[in-house]
Amino acid sequence: MNGTAVVGAQWGDEGKGKIIDYFAGQADVVVRSQGGNNAGHTVVHNAETYKLHLMPSGILYSGTHCLIGAGVVLDPRDLCGEINGLKARGVSVDNLRIDYRAHIVTPFHTEIDKLSELSKGESKIGTTGRGIGPCYVDKYDRIGIRFYDLIHPEIFKEKLHLLANAKNAVITKIYGGIPLDAEKIIAEYTEYAAQLAEYADDVSVLTYNSLKSDKKVLFEGAQAALLDIDFGTYPYVTSSHPLSAGSALGAGVGPNALSTIVGVAKAYTTRVGMGPFPTELDNEQGDIIRKNGAEFGTTTGRPRRTGYFDAVIVRYATRVNGITHLAINKLDVLKNTGDLKICTAYKTDNGAIIHDFPADIAELAKCSPVYEIFDGFKEDIGNAKVFSDLPDTCQKYLTRIGELCGAPVKYIGNGAARDKLIIN
Ligand code: GDP
Ligand code: IMO
Ligand code: MG
Repeated sequence: MNGTAVVGAQWGDEGKGKIIDYFAGQADVVVRSQGGNNAGHTVVHNAETYKLHLMPSGILYSGTHCLIGAGVVLDPRDLCGEINGLKARGVSVDNLRIDYRAHIVTPFHTEIDKLSELSKGESKIGTTGRGIGPCYVDKYDRIGIRFYDLIHPEIFKEKLHLLANAKNAVITKIYGGIPLDAEKIIAEYTEYAAQLAEYADDVSVLTYNSLKSDKKVLFEGAQAALLDIDFGTYPYVTSSHPLSAGSALGAGVGPNALSTIVGVAKAYTTRVGMGPFPTELDNEQGDIIRKNGAEFGTTTGRPRRTGYFDAVIVRYATRVNGITHLAINKLDVLKNTGDLKICTAYKTDNGAIIHDFPADIAELAKCSPVYEIFDGFKEDIGNAKVFSDLPDTCQKYLTRIGELCGAPVKYIGNGAARDKLIIN
């Protein structure tokens, strides 16, 4: 089958929205498979900027079917807000479908997310506060509420009361917080259910049938390899599987659905939240990249930590995702930032050189980067249309990234706008 997945190859915010938008323009169907409104995907479409959180980015194309799969955790308050915001801007959401099995984020989850972070003090994860972790906890504890339940008021009422009993005990007895009013939540969520019911469907069937009839299906990844619950920098990760395998699973189709897997990275590295970051530039140069690249979170507005490109990370992402092609975004941001460096390996505290990303952050914290140094560039590259338009320095840098990471660099972002994408 001929599906394409777009996945994050670093710590998120690699500009997946822009690459997804490029593929969505040629796709019949776009599926979101995991995560929730912790994602923030920016799409600059006809000079207008859209920040999408739960809504698949294909919604900006009128003929494209947009699916939210079973693996997603869905906050109906936010989704209704997104739908209303898009409609107000003249974007039709008629082609949206939501899987019956997707789990519902409730105010209990957002409240516990916040209280749990507060209670951790210095060792907090730095979550987006969207209730993502607590919602997945309930899913795996088999006490979650699914989209099917939400749109069946009697079932919803019963399940919400059960959840309220369990979660209010946690809020009050563990965290010393204030209990939430179940009746108020039921009344509010009943309104969301009424708005969202028309989109309910079986996304597994829709995705499978589309693939079988040779339609172009795009799996829109959220988050990234290093935020994966198993393969990320645990515990500083999200609670889902942002890897390509998670894209197929969360949509409800087999892994052979994917024939092309595009890994998206920036020409440098960023992360929001806590945890070790070997190539971090905690200095003026890092500040310049943050400023030039407008590196502030789409979902929370937090400043992103910045650093040099880390090929150990992207090589790891290539392995755990099966990446077939790389997209390297935001090359333009590196103009006038001095020499370019690529981290090719790590040196451990006992002097050993390692090429594979360590399995545990305690080991990662002991690693310092081994760099290859490249000349920087001062030219404006925003008008480059093909690879050969780029300065030699950029060409060498990108070619080396492809060699070191184990997949060719096929897409190069040289500006935020849709047309600032070089296909190599
Ligand atoms: P996502 O979460 O991976 O979709 O990425 P975000 O939308 O959170 O952050 C990426 C930011 O970089 C957005 O503001 C994009 O508009 C912007 N962007 C994407 N590609 C490029 C590029 O090639 N150059 C520049 N300057 N900005 C880009
Ligand atoms: P997109 O799709 C960057 C990070 C949070 C935090 C950790 C856990 O826009 O690339 P969570 O709220 O998921 O429990 O937070 O994961 N995180 C992201 N960082 N981009 C994202 O999504 C992220 N989604 C979650 O900052 O460190
Ligand atoms: Mg983002």
